[in-house]
Amino acid sequence: MKRGNALALVKLAKVSKVYPGNVRAVAPMDLEIAHGEFTVLVGPSGCGKSTTLRMIAGLEEITEGDISIGDRIVNDVEPRDRDIAMVFQSYALYPHMTVGDNMGFGLRMRKHPKEEITKRVGEAARVLGIEELLQRKPRALSGGQRQRVALGRAIVRNPEVFLFDEPLSNLDAKMRVQMRTEIARLHHRLGATMIYVTHDQTEAMTLGQRIVVMKDGFVQQVAPPLDLYERPANRFVGGFIGSPAMNFLPGHLIQQDGLRLVCADGQTTCELPAGFEPPAQTVGPKLVLGIRPEHVSVGGSNPSAATELQVLESLGNETLAYFQVAGQSVTARCPGQLTAGIDEKLNLSFAAEHIHLFGADEEGANLLHEG
Ligand SMILES: Nc1ncnc2c1ncn2[C@@H]1O[C@H](COP(=O)(O)OP(=O)(O)O)[C@@H](O)[C@H]1O
Ligand SMILES: [Mg+2]
Repeated sequence: MKRGNALALVKLAKVSKVYPGNVRAVAPMDLEIAHGEFTVLVGPSGCGKSTTLRMIAGLEEITEGDISIGDRIVNDVEPRDRDIAMVFQSYALYPHMTVGDNMGFGLRMRKHPKEEITKRVGEAARVLGIEELLQRKPRALSGGQRQRVALGRAIVRNPEVFLFDEPLSNLDAKMRVQMRTEIARLHHRLGATMIYVTHDQTEAMTLGQRIVVMKDGFVQQVAPPLDLYERPANRFVGGFIGSPAMNFLPGHLIQQDGLRLVCADGQTTCELPAGFEPPAQTVGPKLVLGIRPEHVSVGGSNPSAATELQVLESLGNETLAYFQVAGQSVTARCPGQLTAGIDEKLNLSFAAEHIHLFGADEEGANLLHEG
């Protein structure tokens, strides 16, 4: 297999897409993907993920910019000549062909010798654990098995780059998790370059070595998963990555017996923990405090807020407790089990080292960590 080519790199230079009718799907975008890297494009529906992937695949004309794969610009190269394989949400298997013939179809079209096709289909089937399915027709397969065949069809091509567009969206939750781990293992085993599109932040966090967060056609942040989690570039990324989502409290900071947040209602103040020492210029102007549910604890003798419990969700291993602070919902994620009654007034403590501050404007930039 042709692996270890350091030149194999996907590069987008100021690539944009405007659909007819002046629909700007992707704003000029720069992105470099190293050989062997697993990159995930994530963002809400309609943010331009599929368009970006389809431009890389050559299925969508690019409006501006250059896309290169390896050392050649592929703007005008036909999809079939780009050395890529794409796996979609719909499996698009040929119903009248066996699994084996489906997997070998691309190679037959390219006139590879029969023995080579049999060998490569066999290898891919072994990797995916579907050897016993090779003689079956697609209709005799479960959704998970079909998606494995679709993966197999990509693997036999031995492409330089694998492109995935929400390949697991049609599967039930359990199968999704299983296929997710299989794709991760496949990446490890093949060492191939993979670009994966999903709207699901959990999939992005668990699969991606690097994640590209998009919104409204604009790249918001490109970073490894834990960097996104710990240092989101802006309020959108903070709220999009992580589940349950980050809590946000708009207001402004004042120094008065320590640091406090005066909430936007002008009445509620939250005492911030002693270890939280943001830069001086953040005290005064309007901003939004962000804190993840796992960094809000219930109880504590120096609480940031005291408020009534609204709803309690006991999951066994953890408990989600829902509150309101100054009209904003605040979720606390507590390890293990918590017993408390609805409407009971409880203390909420914020972990000092995990408080985020974002601009109050549209951009909502992270005020504690730049870029
Ligand atoms: N063929 C098309 N013609 C016009 N607009 C399109 C077309 N395909 C996608 N769009 C628009 O481009 C934007 C991005 O779409 P898409 O890339 O499919 O988003 P995502 O995959 O992130 O959900 C959306 O606003 C969508 O409506
Ligand atoms: Mg899409």
